[in-house]
Amino acid sequence: ARITLRQLLDHAAEYGYGLPAFNINNMEQGLAVLEAASSVDAPVILQASRGAREYANDIILARMIEALSEIYPHIPICMHQDHGNNEATCMSAIQHGFTSVMMDGSLEANGKTPASYDYNVDITRRVTDFAHWVGASVEGELGVLGSLETGTGEAEDGHGAEGELDHSQLLTDPAQAVDFVKATQVDALAVAMGTSHGAYKFSRKPDGEVLAMNVIEEIHRRLPTTHLVMHGSSSVPQELQDIFTQYGGEMPQTWGVPIEEILRGIKFGVRKVNIDTDCRLAMSGAIRKVFAEKPGEFDPRKYLKPAKEAMRALCKLRYEQFGAAGMA
Ligand code: G3H
Ligand code: 13P
Ligand code: NA
Ligand code: ZN
Repeated sequence: ARITLRQLLDHAAEYGYGLPAFNINNMEQGLAVLEAASSVDAPVILQASRGAREYANDIILARMIEALSEIYPHIPICMHQDHGNNEATCMSAIQHGFTSVMMDGSLEANGKTPASYDYNVDITRRVTDFAHWVGASVEGELGVLGSLETGTGEAEDGHGAEGELDHSQLLTDPAQAVDFVKATQVDALAVAMGTSHGAYKFSRKPDGEVLAMNVIEEIHRRLPTTHLVMHGSSSVPQELQDIFTQYGGEMPQTWGVPIEEILRGIKFGVRKVNIDTDCRLAMSGAIRKVFAEKPGEFDPRKYLKPAKEAMRALCKLRYEQFGAAGMA
């Protein structure tokens, strides 16, 4: 059944677990998440970026969510807009059956320029106003995602703030977070503490200097009932990097967000943990393996099925690690 983000995260807070939010762009990814969730009885957050909506088509996505809810009637499913950049994106998502939207006003609508605090409050408030009229949930974001190691935005994958940022922009200000939640009435708050999107988050295993989990603890101390969201939270596991490179993929050694740091976040109010890169890497490694071992293969099912299975295994593991198994 379809459910809002707010309902899912209220339950997660009550029982002290976290929910991975997996990005999907196609049928294989949607099936991978639901097969994983169903196998461990976990509730589901699916999210589609603006790019995903453009890739898959809104109508196809909408029908796919409907189909997944029908195939897995016992699993609560939240369909969430990831990184909405303006009111129209959020409203059209709701129109297509999304039960939750992220209004990311930490950046201006171009997705590249860090926005002023007032811009962020105003646009997020406008979205919570109309979303709440129709019972949809809203995630806001305060602080700009980016690397504390290099002091830059996420230029490498073309997403997020451009260029150099100062340290204070890259960390959510706890006092400002209190004001922001009150002013915008968001159901969940994404915070910045050193994670970034994509595979290249850290050049070594992160310590407290580059992954400032203490900021989350401080925000949770001041906002104990606000559901917090961690973006850029793929762990980029060594095993997945190894499979990818073993079969010809090119990826310089990199580090993601260690699971133990996510679990620390979950102790301090983190309820939604965004994961895309790990799924991409799992699928692409599996596809590379088929192509390397069977260069004559050209039936898409022969590589898309292993890709789906690899993503399913990853998703199942995250449900178990975050304590969401058995919570559907
Ligand atoms: O925001 C980042 C997510 O990983 C989605 O990425 O915009 O390439 O679909 P995308
Ligand atoms: P990753 O790139 O770490 O998977 O983060 C995804 C994300 O935050 C989507 O909003
Ligand atoms: Na999001
Ligand atoms: Zn994100």
